[in-house]
Amino acid sequence: MNRIGEVLTVGHLVKAYGDRAPAVDDVSFSLSAGKTLALVGESGAGKSTIGAVVTGTVAATSGTVGVCGEDRSRPARSARERRRRGLQLQLVPQDPYTTLDPTQTVGDAIAEAVSLRGGARNGRAARVADLLAMVGLSDAHRELRPRSLSGGQRQRVAIARALAPEPEVIVLDEAVSALDVSVQAQVINLLNRIQRETGTAYLFITHDLAVVRQIADDVMVLRAGRIEETGSVDSIFGRPRSSYTRALLDATPRPGWQPAQSG
Ligand SMILES: Nc1ncnc2c1ncn2[C@@H]1O[C@H](COP(=O)(O)OP(=O)(O)O)[C@@H](O)[C@H]1O
Ligand SMILES: [Mg+2]
Repeated sequence: MNRIGEVLTVGHLVKAYGDRAPAVDDVSFSLSAGKTLALVGESGAGKSTIGAVVTGTVAATSGTVGVCGEDRSRPARSARERRRRGLQLQLVPQDPYTTLDPTQTVGDAIAEAVSLRGGARNGRAARVADLLAMVGLSDAHRELRPRSLSGGQRQRVAIARALAPEPEVIVLDEAVSALDVSVQAQVINLLNRIQRETGTAYLFITHDLAVVRQIADDVMVLRAGRIEETGSVDSIFGRPRSSYTRALLDATPRPGWQPAQSG
């Protein structure tokens, strides 16, 4: 089923690595344009596996994945198809330090992602400048390389690269988990603003429920590869039905909690 506005649909997804018990077992959900679905659960619950299947880096054992109404359950057959898929869905990884090319400047890294969409070469520099501004970096960052950036700045570059092809969906796997709390809040504000401006949908994978309230519309709680419960942020945080969800919430700092400032 494909309702208007659904940019990602996952149906009865199963992923088993080798002959072990499935890491993901019969998971179904959908995500609409302009919305954020948080995928939460303990380490090993299967969150990253779902993200990897959706982004096409891991093949499903069974089940369906649709992005913008197109079937993604089989790998891309050609470079052209991979490019098309990149225009629909992008990934922001946990640690962009390992995915950004250390020899490439910020400007070149973003320009490379801009070129995925094609279009006139002479418009690209302006687009890079727009993207830098969108993620709160300045022209001065353009010539820097990843080692000269802070963790928060690298994450902004990764977000700019993901936004460059104007995808309908961005998968963020623990994208702010490595950042300290104040930088985390800045990046989340940035993601919220970008979503309002562009209507991009986010699949926001995290083990940290403290950030979920700040970004998500809906939450899916995973437990050992299966859906434990799913609902709006208000219902999951306000009236969790399962004891597993309650235990996750109890292990999470309360809203309004502020860490002691260091330094
Ligand atoms: N490439 C892999 N090969 C074998 N097992 C894996 C692989 N990736 C993940 N797993 C296993 O699948 C389960 C789910 O892992 P993962 O999706 O990374 O969970 P999460 O992101 O929620 O921590 C874990 O038991 C993990 O050990
Ligand atoms: Mg993970």
